[in-house]
Amino acid sequence: MSNPFLRIYNALKGKRKVTPKQEPNINSGDADVIGKEFLKHFVEIGGLKSSDDVLDVGSGYGRMAVALTDYLSPDSRYEGIEIIPQGIEWSSKNITPNFKNFNFQLIDVKNDRYNPKGNQKASEFKFPFEDESFDFIFLTSVFTHMLPDDLENYLSEISRVLRKSGKTFITYFLLNDESRVLIKEGKSHHKLPYKYENCRIEYEEDPEHVIAYEEMGIREFYKKYNLNFVSAHYGNWCGRIDHVSHQDIVIGTKA
Ligand SMILES: C[S@@+](CC[C@H](N)C(=O)[O-])C[C@H]1O[C@@H](n2cnc3c(N)ncnc32)[C@H](O)[C@@H]1O
Repeated sequence: MSNPFLRIYNALKGKRKVTPKQEPNINSGDADVIGKEFLKHFVEIGGLKSSDDVLDVGSGYGRMAVALTDYLSPDSRYEGIEIIPQGIEWSSKNITPNFKNFNFQLIDVKNDRYNPKGNQKASEFKFPFEDESFDFIFLTSVFTHMLPDDLENYLSEISRVLRKSGKTFITYFLLNDESRVLIKEGKSHHKLPYKYENCRIEYEEDPEHVIAYEEMGIREFYKKYNLNFVSAHYGNWCGRIDHVSHQDIVIGTKA
């Protein structure tokens, strides 16, 4: 089986051969293909421009960053923050030397699935950036692993560090009339049988593995944190036929 990290690395312009350790549950699927798919969505749905200053929250092993190296101009700024040290180490070692405008920071925030020993609560964490620093902020497959208080604080921080003309691109599993019916009919990849606070989860013993939110609840959160919920582009995670990607994508702007 070919190694997605080796493919990522080879997609980079610098040709030093490195095969980083693969972390399970982070880059599932073909990282290179998914990175390219999302670059297209960032531009076509999210309106990303090559000159934008970009924040990638939960940057993992650089799956999206690698794709962005082909698009962002050297004058733009890319910042990735992540709670898994190996993801930051790999990205800093393999991306930053060739693309100096790409920077990765480890944040010691707790998530029972990804960083159970983290020292800081996600519900209280302050992003290490000044107000209004970014034009484009994205989270791919991150809020699908974050509980309500944590998600709320992150939306508040996203709103704080987003510029007035900026955009957010965030993926979710959104519960609405259509996805609820598909789940009931047994067509969904995730059954989400358990209620947990104001969200639904797939695994009772591991809540942060898969988390879905009511679309109405997310719309309320956007309002509360001065963000406009501009559009939703629904995914096939629930068995939807007409879809854009796997997870649902929400585009936001600053209110
Ligand atoms: C499924 S992975 C997706 C990684 C990356 N966004 C991508 O699309 O390749 C989920 C990521 O969210 C990160 N994560 C979970 N909780 C987080 C938090 N509170 N702050 C930042 N990252 C977090 C995990 O460490 C993990 O890298």
